[in-house]
Amino acid sequence: MSATALDNGNPAALRPGAFGNAVALSCRECGARQELGPYYACAECFGPLEVAYDFGAVSRDAIEAGPKSIWRYRSLLPVPADVERFPNTEPGFTRLLRADNLARELGLDTLWIKDDSGNPTHSFKDRVVAVALAAARELGLKVLACPSTGNLANAVAAAAARAGIKSVVFIPHDLERPKVLTTAVYGGTLLAVKGNYDDVNRLASEIAGEEEGWAFVNVNVRPYYAEGSKTLGFEIAEQLGWRLPQQVVVPVASGAQLVKVDKGFRELAELGLVESSPYRIFGAQATGCSPVAEAFREGHDVVRPVRPDTVAKSLAIGNPADGPYVLDVCRRTGGAVEDVSDEEIRDGITLLAQTEGIFAETAGGVTVATLKKLLETGQLDPAAETVIIQSGDGLKTLDAIADRVGPAATIEPTYAAFTEAYSSA
Ligand SMILES: Cc1ncc(COP(=O)(O)O)c(C=O)c1O
Ligand SMILES: [Zn+2]
Repeated sequence: MSATALDNGNPAALRPGAFGNAVALSCRECGARQELGPYYACAECFGPLEVAYDFGAVSRDAIEAGPKSIWRYRSLLPVPADVERFPNTEPGFTRLLRADNLARELGLDTLWIKDDSGNPTHSFKDRVVAVALAAARELGLKVLACPSTGNLANAVAAAAARAGIKSVVFIPHDLERPKVLTTAVYGGTLLAVKGNYDDVNRLASEIAGEEEGWAFVNVNVRPYYAEGSKTLGFEIAEQLGWRLPQQVVVPVASGAQLVKVDKGFRELAELGLVESSPYRIFGAQATGCSPVAEAFREGHDVVRPVRPDTVAKSLAIGNPADGPYVLDVCRRTGGAVEDVSDEEIRDGITLLAQTEGIFAETAGGVTVATLKKLLETGQLDPAAETVIIQSGDGLKTLDAIADRVGPAATIEPTYAAFTEAYSSA
């Protein structure tokens, strides 16, 4: 095995079926295959690895008979058939809501919101962590770790607590306070690092190469971890009645989520679980951290790293690992990558809250505001059925809207005071 691969597991000791229908890791750059194990870089070219499968037959009936969590798709994930036997946070199967008020406001015919704030720690990150935890267990890794922009920190700390293993979580020192507290509450070790996410990520990669037996979910078990986001695509299709939408808008930080929604759609079509139909995927970024949107606009294949400065801290990855693959997916499907200002992000949060009763975190504000911009600039077809992914909970980023909303008045507890205040409100 390559010197680039971590040696902190023993693939020879894998139990049969440890990774379900997964058969190998394959390089996303050169296609070279290597055995399943705690590897993330290609032995031939250092390119990133992804999971390759031999699915056999998978039926809608078998999926529908499964649990109301991501494990109903276990035959499409790198997890064992008995994955449910082990403690996990059981994420997934979140609401897909018809959003007629927001659609009307924006001039769209049909809009759906995949509201992933309904996950156990209130973001889509529970999906990827559940798969990473299953992989870590099969690989004999004993510590669950990550560098995080906030939501992943919550998900890792909670999943490790439930699994009864240690967690070590690294965050930038200037993260929103609610995200710090909603990680620390689960116990485990939380370390705030003096630097931005890209500094934290670099440190994590270094530690991953040094510490034995650690599963850095988004570093050395990243090929497995990332597969968890396919379940967003699977659920959207199943909840639409086993068909694909025509347009999807997805927030982009590392870009893994967007790339895997596309992979999920393609696998469903290849397996005959949905009819193959054209769809366009759009990426959403904050202008203060928009390296992928910039590369898209300029027609570049590579993504030039930036230094993030945006209210959308969960999306503040200046050097996105999956950036080039986001460009591939958006170009191949006829989509686009756009970015929106911090003011537009705040407007997006309040617009969604006031039209649909959904309070999104800043990443959701980015997605809603990008949807609006894509419509205004004619990049998104208002007549085509559209889904947006609302990936996190507004309670974690209260400061973003704290100076915009509040009580209309503070009044004495009398009817007279009420009528006076209400008539002027
Ligand atoms: C709420 C939320 N949405 C979207 C993303 C983007 O995910 P990805 O890094 O897979 O692009 C993140 C990443 O941290 C996030 O926290
Ligand atoms: Zn390779």
